[in-house]
Amino acid sequence: MEINKYEITKVLEDHNLENSKLWLAEAEFGFSHLKEHVSSLTANMDILEVGCGSGILLSMLAEEFPNHNFLGIEPFGEGFSNLKELNAAVRKLGVNLLTESYEKHQFKYDLIYCINVFEHVTDWRHFLDWASNNLKENGTFLVLCPNYGFPYESHFKIPITFNKRFTFTFFKKHILNFEQNNKCVGLWDSLNFVKKSEVLTYCYENALENGLTVSDDISIIDDMIERLSEDAEFRKRQFIIGRIAVLLKALGILKLIRVFPNFLPYMKLSFSKTS
Ligand SMILES: C[S@@+](CC[C@H](N)C(=O)[O-])C[C@H]1O[C@@H](n2cnc3c(N)ncnc32)[C@H](O)[C@@H]1O
Repeated sequence: MEINKYEITKVLEDHNLENSKLWLAEAEFGFSHLKEHVSSLTANMDILEVGCGSGILLSMLAEEFPNHNFLGIEPFGEGFSNLKELNAAVRKLGVNLLTESYEKHQFKYDLIYCINVFEHVTDWRHFLDWASNNLKENGTFLVLCPNYGFPYESHFKIPITFNKRFTFTFFKKHILNFEQNNKCVGLWDSLNFVKKSEVLTYCYENALENGLTVSDDISIIDDMIERLSEDAEFRKRQFIIGRIAVLLKALGILKLIRVFPNFLPYMKLSFSKTS
């Protein structure tokens, strides 16, 4: 992808902001998953990014698709105050960004999306219901995030032992050191350990009430594997899981994990609103 053509990359080069490489790589990943969907929309759609963090992805999309109305909301939740500086740089480009949590926001959208946010909200069931209330008829809510049905915590790069509480007990020192060293105190507390199987069940059980039908795109796992080989920043961050994936692929057994879709470490769920 020709990332240098976007205005935001010049801003980041000029400012030399902390972690900009990491967040740029995250935005590139998000862009590759949204581009197709956004291109398929007719002009003048209302599009919302929830938890837009740095705002880099939103600025790229707004530049690529000037015929739509983009807005990003970002409350700088626990563990994410370090995104403020980047976010301020993006605002200078004239991208529509509000410092707000989804709970405070009400409007009707054709597309709502969130990348690596679903696992941080206090109550993901409430978030789903909110999305349903804020989607127009035939609108889409796109969610990309880790799946805690797979026993690995990708922010802290540790195995999950039974549940969040036990994992904290076993890895307390590592978790607290990680938060201190990466200036993200509160990150562990923000995690809700959402499991794909629970989201799917919730969606099936409440489809009549909230009008959402869900589609589970397991091809995301191929993209993640490709990302491990193409995105050096990501490979460095996910060294252990990356090594395991490469080994399983070399042994020819990586394809087998597709048989257990609820066990895949990452999820891409698309919710459609119908009456
Ligand atoms: C891992 S960051 C992801 C940022 C960005 N989406 C990205 O991929 O670079 C998670 C984000 O979720 C946001 N978040 C957490 N709770 C939220 C809420 N209730 N409403 C909106 N955003 C929230 C956090 O502030 C944080 O910026």
